[in-house]
Amino acid sequence: MKTQVAIIGGGPSGLLLSQLLNQAGVDTVLLERASRKHVLSRIRAGVLEAGTVQMLHEANVAQRMEQEGIPHDGVYLSDDDLMVHINFKELTGKQVMIYGQTEVTADLYAAQDAMGTTIVHTVEDVVIEGADSASPKVSYSVGDQRFAIDCDYVAGCDGFHGVSRKTIPEKNRQTFERVYPFGWLGILSRTKPAHDELIYANSSNGFALASMRNQNLSRYYIQVPLTDRVEDWSDEAFWTKLKSCLPSDIAKTMETGSSIEKSIAPLRSFVSEPLRWGNLFLVGDAAHIVPPTGAKGLNLAVSDVFYLYHGLVQALKTGTTEGIDCYSERALTRIWKAMRFSWQMTTMLHKFADEDNFAAQMRTATLKHLSQSETARRDLAENYIGLPF
Ligand code: APR
Ligand code: PHB
Repeated sequence: MKTQVAIIGGGPSGLLLSQLLNQAGVDTVLLERASRKHVLSRIRAGVLEAGTVQMLHEANVAQRMEQEGIPHDGVYLSDDDLMVHINFKELTGKQVMIYGQTEVTADLYAAQDAMGTTIVHTVEDVVIEGADSASPKVSYSVGDQRFAIDCDYVAGCDGFHGVSRKTIPEKNRQTFERVYPFGWLGILSRTKPAHDELIYANSSNGFALASMRNQNLSRYYIQVPLTDRVEDWSDEAFWTKLKSCLPSDIAKTMETGSSIEKSIAPLRSFVSEPLRWGNLFLVGDAAHIVPPTGAKGLNLAVSDVFYLYHGLVQALKTGTTEGIDCYSERALTRIWKAMRFSWQMTTMLHKFADEDNFAAQMRTATLKHLSQSETARRDLAENYIGLPF
């Protein structure tokens, strides 16, 4: 088989890149380890920056998002009973869109089917060879059969545990990492959201987040120790803990019910540099992970795709390599700013197990400052709605 761009991974990064490249007349083959059903069963975050919304329009996959997504003008941060409103609309003129990543992925698969692009599911043992040469090759198995693709470029969109990053020799990459000493226990429930806007709560009982998918589907998270397992948490225990972290008037009136999904995710900041080795490019979670506190994971994947898509189209259509030559640097400049924001949101809102009493005072002082300073709120709003691509 021969193609222009071999894409490893059929999560949001790989699918969006495939969608945009095929629209521009570039030939691709996308290889995904899991079944489509499995990919579409993963529940992930749900906040889309304005720039992400625009990219989904450009990719012609925005129709259902525009109907079912909920535009949000702001978020609340709370500190026990203090509620701080960050009004994005007033502070930046922009909004974010609440629309689950799972739905974005489903819309991309549907659009790819309609275009008739090549997507191969349940591939095993993907091997990238000659990535540092002019003619890379990607081989893989489906069942007992082995296949190979000759290509011009390889896009490594295969997430944190994929093969792409590991294909780059260790001496050619540098990693930066911070692992946080807690995880998020999240539930989905068919209940009315606790509030019109998201609430990121700092409290003496730890962090909680009240989010939503629609008017009858809520998504909540609480901070838990890394040693906790999902089985340790009954729905009742979850609601009790959640309510102890949210402002008391919200806790008193919120609707609770049984969970329809429950999972724990660890929190980590991670970057692997550079994003290019020869003709292999890393995109999205394959290159970087952010803690979910700033809702940046999917949005960063989309800005990576933006830079790489333009670079690849330029290289394949005109022979000019300026865009792919600058890809790593351009994408990393934005990635590090989102890293900083996600880390800052995480440290501002979570209780660390070994912290002294000074740390809690710092969180409260930061939230009080936000409540009193429009400048501080504007800075947070600018980062939350997404820095320009
Ligand atoms: N071969 C083929 N596919 C692979 C391989 C492999 N060796 N390893 C992993 N994959 C697939 C995974 O099954 C997954 O579907 O690559 C895909 C990677 O998707 P994601 O992990 O979702 O990463 P990405 O597409 O970069 O999406 C960005 O934003 O909100 C965040 O972490 C969240 O998934 C999200 C991310
Ligand atoms: C979610 O709705 O799942 C969500 C929202 C905001 C975040 C993280 C997750 O920061």
